[in-house]
Amino acid sequence: MWQEGWLFFRNFVRQNKFCLLGTLILLLTVPPLTIFSIYDNIHHVESHVWQEIFYLGLFPLMLLGLGLFCVGIFISRQGFFSRETVQELMAKADKAKVLRETAFLTSVILTVVLICMGAIVYSAYHYTESVNFCGKLCHRVMTPEFTAYQHSPHAHVKCVHCHIGPGASWFVKSKLSGMKEVVEYLTNTYPRPLPTPVHNLRPARETCEECHRPEYFVGYKLVIKEKRQTDKNNSKLYTVLLMKTGSGGMKGKAFGIHWHVSPEVKIYYKYTDPKRENIVEVVKIEKGKKTVFKGSEEAREGEVRLMDCMDCHNRPTHIFHSAEEALDLEFVSGAMPEDLPFVKKVTLEAITQNYPSRKEAKVKIAEYIRNYYQKNYPDLVKNSPEKIEQVIAAAQEAYLLNVFPEMKITWGTYTNFLSHDGCFRCHNEELESEDGEVISQDCSLCHNLLAEEEESPEILETLLGE
Ligand code: HEC
Ligand code: HEC
Ligand code: HEC
Ligand code: HEC
Ligand code: HEC
Repeated sequence: MWQEGWLFFRNFVRQNKFCLLGTLILLLTVPPLTIFSIYDNIHHVESHVWQEIFYLGLFPLMLLGLGLFCVGIFISRQGFFSRETVQELMAKADKAKVLRETAFLTSVILTVVLICMGAIVYSAYHYTESVNFCGKLCHRVMTPEFTAYQHSPHAHVKCVHCHIGPGASWFVKSKLSGMKEVVEYLTNTYPRPLPTPVHNLRPARETCEECHRPEYFVGYKLVIKEKRQTDKNNSKLYTVLLMKTGSGGMKGKAFGIHWHVSPEVKIYYKYTDPKRENIVEVVKIEKGKKTVFKGSEEAREGEVRLMDCMDCHNRPTHIFHSAEEALDLEFVSGAMPEDLPFVKKVTLEAITQNYPSRKEAKVKIAEYIRNYYQKNYPDLVKNSPEKIEQVIAAAQEAYLLNVFPEMKITWGTYTNFLSHDGCFRCHNEELESEDGEVISQDCSLCHNLLAEEEESPEILETLLGE
C-alpha cells in the first residue's frame, strides 16, 4: 500500500542532505520526547536530571532537526511542489494514484508530528514554569533562595506564582529578562548576592492577591516569640505581641496595618538607594485627599514607587533569619537539646565565625562545639556523646539554611521589612507634612506589646490556660 507515495517521500528525503539529517534527528528525538512528555504530564516527573536531559537536551535538538528539515524544503529545487516534482509525478502511469498517496502520506506524517510536537511543547513550557527549572537548574546561583523557600510557608507555591503570575505579557517579559540571567550564568558574571528588590518585579497586587485578599479579612494576629538566652541554662524569654493587622476594607472601613492596601488609599514613596531603605518623601492619597510627608532637607532625586504588599512582606518565602533567630527556631522545633549547659552561647559563637565555604563551615562548626565541651565538660562528652552530635547537627542546620558564602550571603544580608527596619523607614520623626504632622511611631499603633522578653509572662499563662 502507498508504495508510490512512500518511494517518492524516501527519494525526496534521501536526495536532500538537510532533510535527511533533519529526519534522522527527528526520528531519534521525537519518539522518546513524546513518551517522556506524556509520562511527565500524567505522573509529574520529580527528577530534575531527567527533565534537564529531555527538555534542555533533546528538545532543542528536536527543534534543530525540524529547522534543518524546513531549510531543506525551502532551498530544495526538488521540493514537494516544485515543477520538477510535479513533472516527475505526471510522467508516471498512474498519476492520480501517486498524487493521492503522496498527499495522504504527507498529511498523516504531518498530523502525527504535529500531535507529538504539541504534547512536547506543552510539557516543555510547563517545565520552564516549574520549581525545578527556577530553583535547581541554576543551582549555585539560586541555592539560597531555593533553600529558604523550601522551609517557608510558601514551600508548595510555585516560583512563577509570585515572580510571574498569570497572563501572557508577564510571561513574555519574564522569558526575555530570563535570557539575560542565563547569559550571566553561563559567563559566570552574575551578581553575588543576587540583587534585591527584584527589578521590574510584577506588582504584588497581581500576584499575591491571586491567593490573599487583605480587603476581605479583618482581625488581629497573635505573635509569640520564644527566645533563648546565652546563660548556662539557656533560659527562655517570651515576647507576646498582638499585631493589629486590621483590614484592607473592601466592604467597610480600612484600618490597622492593612489600611495601606485599601482600594481607597494610595501611598507613593521616593527612595534614593537600590535597596529602598532610604525613603525621603511619602505621599498619601486617601479618598482624593493628598498629604505629603517630606524630610527637612529638600527632597533629593530618587525613584518613586507605589507601595504594595512587597514593601512589608518582602521576605514571604526567602526568609533568611538572624543567627539568634535561626538557633531559637532549632530550640522551638526540638532539634536542639535544651538541657546542655551553654548550648545557645556555644552554638551562637560557632555559627557566627567567618567561614569561606559551606563545606568548611560544617566541619569547623562541629570542631568548635566538640572542642568546647571536651574542654569544659569532659564527663558530659563521655556519658552522652549522642547529645553533642545532636547539638552539632542543629547548629549546622541553622547555619546551612541561612548562610551562603559562595553567594556572599551571610547573617543579615537581606533585610526583612516586616519589622521595625521596614516600618520605620516611613514611620519616623524626620518625614513631616506641611502641618507639621509625622507618620506615627506610637507603640500601640501597630501592635499591643503584651510582654517583652519576660521569663514567664502572665499573659502567656492566661493564653495557655495554665
Ligand atoms: C510567595 C511568593 C514567592 C515565591 C513562591 C517565590 N518567590 Fe522569589 N521572591 C519573592 C519576593 C517577594 C522577593 C523579593 C522581591 C523584592 O523585594 O522586590 C523574591 C526575590 C527572589 C530573588 C532575588 C534575591 C532575593 O533573595 O531577594 C530570587 C533569586 C528569587 N526570588 C528566586 C525564587 C525561586 C527560584 C523561587 C522558587 C523556588 C521563588 N523565588 C519563589 C517572592 C516569592
Ligand atoms: C498560590 C497561592 C499563593 C500565592 C501566590 C501567595 N501565597 Fe501567601 N500563602 C499561601 C498559603 C497556602 C499560605 C498558608 C501557608 C501555611 O499557613 O502553612 C500562605 C501564607 C502566607 C502568609 C502567612 C505566613 C505565616 O508566617 O503565617 C503571608 C504573610 C503570605 N502568605 C504573604 C504572601 C505574599 C506577600 C505573597 C505575594 C508575594 C503571597 N503570599 C503569595 C498561598 C499563596
Ligand atoms: C504596611 C505593611 C503591610 C502591607 C503593605 C501588607 N501587609 Fe500583610 N501583614 C503585615 C503585618 C505586619 C502582618 C502581621 C504578620 C506578623 O507579624 O507575623 C501581616 C499579615 C498578613 C497575612 C497573615 C494574616 C494572618 O492573620 O495570619 C497575610 C496573608 C498578609 N499579611 C498578606 C498581605 C497581602 C497579600 C498584602 C498586599 C495586598 C499585604 N499583606 C500588605 C504588614 C503588611
Ligand atoms: C512607604 C511608607 C510606609 C511604610 C514602609 C509603612 N507605613 Fe504605615 N503608614 C504610612 C502612612 C503614610 C500612614 C498614614 C499616616 C497618617 O495618616 O498620619 C501609615 C499608617 C499606618 C497605620 C495606621 C492606619 C490607620 O488605621 O489609619 C498603621 C497601623 C501602620 N501604618 C502600620 C505599618 C506597619 C506595621 C508597617 C511595617 C510593616 C508600616 N506601616 C510601614 C506609610 C508607611
Ligand atoms: C509602624 C508600626 C510599628 C510601630 C509604630 C512599632 N512597632 Fe514594634 N513591631 C512592628 C512590627 C511589624 C514588628 C514585627 C512583628 C513580627 O515579627 O511578626 C514589631 C515587633 C516588635 C517587638 C518584638 C521584636 C522581637 O523580634 O522580639 C517589640 C518588642 C516591639 N515591636 C516594640 C515596639 C515598641 C516599644 C514600639 C514603640 C516605640 C513599637 N514597637 C512601635 C511594628 C511597629
